[in-house]
Amino acid sequence: MEITNRREFLATAATAQLAVTSIQASPAEAAADAVSKPLSVAVIGCGGMGRSHLATLAGREDVQVTWVCDVDRERLATAAKMITDAGKPQPKSTTDLREVLADESVRAVWIATPDHWHGPAAILAADAGKHVYVEKPCGHNLREGRLMIEAARRNGIVMQVGTQSRSTAHVRQAMQLLHDGAIGEVLVAKAWNSQRRNSLGRQQPTDPPAVLDYDAWVGPAVWQPYQANLLHGIWRFWQNYGCGDIGNDGVHEIDIARWGLDVDRHPDRVAGLGGLYAVDDDQQYPDTQYCIYEWSTPETVGTKQLIFEQRDWSPYVQEGHENGNAFYGTKGMLVLGKKSGWQLYGERNKLVDQAEGSFSLPPHYDNFLTCIRDGGRPHADIEEGHRSAALVHLGNIACRHGRTLMFDPVAEAVIDDSEANAEIRRRYRADHWAVPAGV
Ligand SMILES: NC(=O)c1ccc[n+]([C@@H]2O[C@H](COP(=O)([O-])OP(=O)(O)OC[C@H]3O[C@@H](n4cnc5c(N)ncnc54)[C@H](O)[C@@H]3O)[C@@H](O)[C@H]2O)c1
Repeated sequence: MEITNRREFLATAATAQLAVTSIQASPAEAAADAVSKPLSVAVIGCGGMGRSHLATLAGREDVQVTWVCDVDRERLATAAKMITDAGKPQPKSTTDLREVLADESVRAVWIATPDHWHGPAAILAADAGKHVYVEKPCGHNLREGRLMIEAARRNGIVMQVGTQSRSTAHVRQAMQLLHDGAIGEVLVAKAWNSQRRNSLGRQQPTDPPAVLDYDAWVGPAVWQPYQANLLHGIWRFWQNYGCGDIGNDGVHEIDIARWGLDVDRHPDRVAGLGGLYAVDDDQQYPDTQYCIYEWSTPETVGTKQLIFEQRDWSPYVQEGHENGNAFYGTKGMLVLGKKSGWQLYGERNKLVDQAEGSFSLPPHYDNFLTCIRDGGRPHADIEEGHRSAALVHLGNIACRHGRTLMFDPVAEAVIDDSEANAEIRRRYRADHWAVPAGV
């Protein structure tokens, strides 16, 4: 086992020492014992996706969910029950994630809160020495993504982002084919989010439900009063808390598009248009959105382009796939769906190869846990997650301002546009304990 930081070293050494004194095991046997014990883990944010994590974690023998954390006490109780119903020991419950992070025995946390909590919670967890599985998009804004990378590296922890397609076998196979030149040089990749969503309607502020600690839910984000069409689940359509549907379902496909294009840095130019075309309600992000990203460095990769399309009012799928990708190469095309495998076409649309498949969580957990045990960077390492989330944030900024952004990929700054550049960061609630340093 590779010991990746001082805290792990101390924890492993303490475990090994205990084993030596109690059963007189050799150091090698003690180390093996430390590896074979289920890893103590926690789930922070037990809503829709948190429950998917709980169900998957509860079925594994290599982890034990020792803590569940949610600021909604009803959801918290459901989460704990899911674990005991699966025949596993009762986890501890809390509404305050700091209690989880203070428990030295917890080795890894799954963070499935709304987006505005991802960065602050992940940075606090990393600084407490925990390995982190954080949902996508990794941060609420571009600056937080950078700070998350720094937190992972300074603490030597594994930080995996919840874009599970990175560990999905048929997606990995398709990416390998693209990188091996199966459709020639991939110059353009398209990502689309085409589905039908309900309107949020229009609401007025009210008192929050008694089961919800709304103050803790808002946390370090800008305060706005509770109203019923703000949460749960639908906060993603509000700027203080989410990143729009491009950052929700869209970021999965954007990540795959960037991966297939084989670009490992931020783009140079970003254009975007969009708005609320189909509904007239309280939501603050477009239901219709088109973003174009361009990497234009001929000396390294040649010019490449990524196109994102979103129509949140479509009662039909696009090109055979609800959410999907198309890769356009100089010799062929590959089309990939979130739930429907991929097809590779050659010249004159001749079907050359295809595979079935759908995204799934367990291989992504396997990859995360293997990296914790053996070291190494996970498939959706925070740096990859940050690059894909950056496309979400830049696309949203371009759409908000309706102009093309020139981006400095190294400085992570919009060039000659102070208004757009100010949105690389967000504002925070003054003096909140979870505001990360350096924002
Ligand atoms: N990887 C995937 O396929 C996938 C799918 C769906 C959602 N997600 C991601 O999962 C995250 C959660 O989405 P959701 O749909 O479950 O939202 P949700 O609103 O249903 O759940 C979020 C939960 O976090 C809780 N929460 C808020 N602040 C908290 C805090 N400080 N401490 C503890 N709990 C807190 C809320 O009370 C709520 O129960 C989002 O980032 C989303 O993008 C990922």
